[in-house]
Amino acid sequence: MTIQEFLGKKEFNIHTQTVSESCPSNIALIKYWGKYKDQIPANPSISFTLNHCKTNTEMEFVANEAFSVQTFLSGNEEVKFAEKIEKYFKNIEQYLPWILQGKYIIKTENTFPHSSGIASSASGFGAIAKCLMKLDESFSGKKSDEESLTKASFLARLGSGSACRSLYNGLVVWGETDEVKGSSDLFAVQYLNSEVHDIFKDFNDWVLLIHEGEKSVSSTVGHGLMNTNPYAERRFQEARENFVPMKEILKSGDMQRFIKLVEHEALTLHAMMMMSDPAFILMKTGTLEVINKIWDFRRETDLPLFFTLDAGANVHLLFPSDGSEEKIKTFIEAELLQHTQKNGVVKDVMKF
Ligand code: PMV
Repeated sequence: MTIQEFLGKKEFNIHTQTVSESCPSNIALIKYWGKYKDQIPANPSISFTLNHCKTNTEMEFVANEAFSVQTFLSGNEEVKFAEKIEKYFKNIEQYLPWILQGKYIIKTENTFPHSSGIASSASGFGAIAKCLMKLDESFSGKKSDEESLTKASFLARLGSGSACRSLYNGLVVWGETDEVKGSSDLFAVQYLNSEVHDIFKDFNDWVLLIHEGEKSVSSTVGHGLMNTNPYAERRFQEARENFVPMKEILKSGDMQRFIKLVEHEALTLHAMMMMSDPAFILMKTGTLEVINKIWDFRRETDLPLFFTLDAGANVHLLFPSDGSEEKIKTFIEAELLQHTQKNGVVKDVMKF
């Protein structure tokens, strides 16, 4: 699909309406880090969509009022977030031509702790894009489910890149790659379930909250620093190349290769941060202690516990539900929880 196909209908019939939607967060296995104009990713990425970490959003649209946005997070007014959403709505007017013709009261809440550092922008923009598509269907006419979902993913991407992957369950690809039919830089697509071994269809993601609170460098700034990173082109090429083994691994269920590739992707993301100018490090002491303990545990037990990281200090502990999970959970509770700030762990699953 081309950008032209996402342009909105000029005829519409607006009215005051309240809609609600929910959207989960996601965790990337092959990472997106670096982008071009209009949120075009520098390389393709693939993620797991989480089942429990979600944003629930209620959007009240008051028709024919001066355009304004008011946002509340768990009942508290968030002025900064409202400014961000106002800018975002102005930016997507060509795709939803009615969007500036009213005022909005947006109430959101996350099912995970606010200060946890879990990416709320993916689930947040995903839920907002879904609400907007609900309003659009009511004002401009019904679309097919597929069309509506694709456009919601397209719109979510313009809010926060990785948000476009949160619109789908299971494994999701964003960014054009010859390895995945139908993949696009403009929106995400679901990775074919028939191409995925059962071992990956029931997975755990326990997020260790190593550091709660604001990150020292936002992901917007981090993406921007890839523009001058001398290793950026090689990294983009590597991520593209990594789709070849990833496809084979997902099909065959080869857990050892999966672990190696996923951990390599996480460490490469953080290596890119360290090689930026100015350099920055988002990992904390606890992050490194946990990684070393995971490696020791694997050496000693051969059990499939491994990690990935997003743009922060928290560690996503990944392990399949293959019968070994009780031993892994006992180890996490006994050895890894102590490296979190307040015994903080968010226990999620990816089942599809
Ligand atoms: O969507 P953004 O701009 O918050 O960037 C997300 C980047 C990573 O989480 C580090 C990787 C990814 O692919 O989700």
